[in-house]
Amino acid sequence: MAEKVLVISSSLRNSSNSEILARQAARGAEEAGHDVEFISLKDKTLYFCKGCLACQKTMKCVINDDASEICGKVGGCDVLIFASPIYYYELCGQLKTLLDRCNPLYPSDYRFRDVYLITASAEDGDEVYRTAAGGMQGWVDCFEKARLVKVLSGGGLSEPADAQKNEAYLKEAYELGKNI
Ligand SMILES: Cc1cc2nc3c(=O)[nH]c(=O)nc-3n(C[C@H](O)[C@H](O)[C@H](O)COP(=O)(O)O)c2cc1C
Repeated sequence: MAEKVLVISSSLRNSSNSEILARQAARGAEEAGHDVEFISLKDKTLYFCKGCLACQKTMKCVINDDASEICGKVGGCDVLIFASPIYYYELCGQLKTLLDRCNPLYPSDYRFRDVYLITASAEDGDEVYRTAAGGMQGWVDCFEKARLVKVLSGGGLSEPADAQKNEAYLKEAYELGKNI
């Protein structure tokens, strides 16, 4: 059955490795017949959550920027694929900010169920992305009907477009999307 898949790429650099892998996953999902939307945070304005919690009553954020529209799309899809560079062994700040700004979804009848995370990092090894995966898991755990299905960690990717040369990661990312 065709699912509504939302891919959110959070790296702000050109020829981003995590974005290259996210686009592969999007291609796989499209070829599997899903309805795919790709969003990059590159051209978006996202302010930090103020923590006022007004959204828990109104289901709307008091801040007027691009987060509201993205949050609406997050709440309305079946499958989420987030892509993040690893910054200091964590999710990048811009993705964390977006996750915080999705707080209006917490009391809502959100639709998403399956969540995926794709990371890119210079170093390789489980310990490099573990904290970032934990952060993602923490967000997903707050949405009881959702689950973190898979984390694809692209280690050893340092320079822009390094991912383009890594056939194994490209294939893994494509398969991730294809197998949704
Ligand atoms: C602020 C900053 C912090 C970083 N921290 C780490 C790190 O802790 N571990 C690591 O392996 N790579 C680290 N890197 C390297 C990036 O994760 C790596 O270049 C990755 O390919 C970037 O992904 P992108 O091309 O999708 O932006 C860091 C890069 C920056 C700019």
